[in-house]
Amino acid sequence: METWDAIRARRNVRQYTEAPIGADELERILEAGRRAPSAGNWQPWNFVVVTDRANLVELAKAWPRGGTHVARSAATVALVAAEPNDELSRDWLQYDLGQATANMMLAAADLGIGSGHSAVHDQQRARRVLGFPDGHFAACMIAFGYPVDRPLAPLARPNRRPFDEVVHWDRW
Ligand SMILES: Cc1cc2nc3c(=O)[nH]c(=O)nc-3n(C[C@H](O)[C@H](O)[C@H](O)COP(=O)(O)O)c2cc1C
Repeated sequence: METWDAIRARRNVRQYTEAPIGADELERILEAGRRAPSAGNWQPWNFVVVTDRANLVELAKAWPRGGTHVARSAATVALVAAEPNDELSRDWLQYDLGQATANMMLAAADLGIGSGHSAVHDQQRARRVLGFPDGHFAACMIAFGYPVDRPLAPLARPNRRPFDEVVHWDRW
């Protein structure tokens, strides 16, 4: 897929086929996250990749309201970071994790692989499954898998605010 097509085709996919994601594809997605830009190039992220079904089911319970798709995914990547020490690094951390997330989701879309965000509410449970060290937390999870409903293809009418409402040329 071309970059422009991948940008237009990416959408949150929460129902996945049984098909596994190949090692090469998964590594490419993770590499896309690793290559994301970050403030001062501090690269605050760690990626914990889960493919074991029992662990995925357990991990999904870390956000029962909005993370059930994690249990059904072929693979889920948890973004784990050190607890920020101050407000500024807290803000940049969220920004940079968002950039790594977007890179991974677009790389997945490029491969026809769907992806879906999930928050992490229960940090204790996430830590039990993922085994990350003290002083760290799981900021979010990205579930991956091939879409059940229809293959990824550029969306003609995305559910977004109108272009002219969002964009201001020269001045607001
Ligand atoms: C920071 C963030 C957190 C999100 N958390 C969840 C979540 O916990 N569960 C979920 O199903 N979707 C979650 N989403 C997905 C959004 O609901 C989704 O991106 C939005 O509705 C736009 O839909 P689209 O991604 O299909 O374009 C999250 C998205 C972001 C950016």
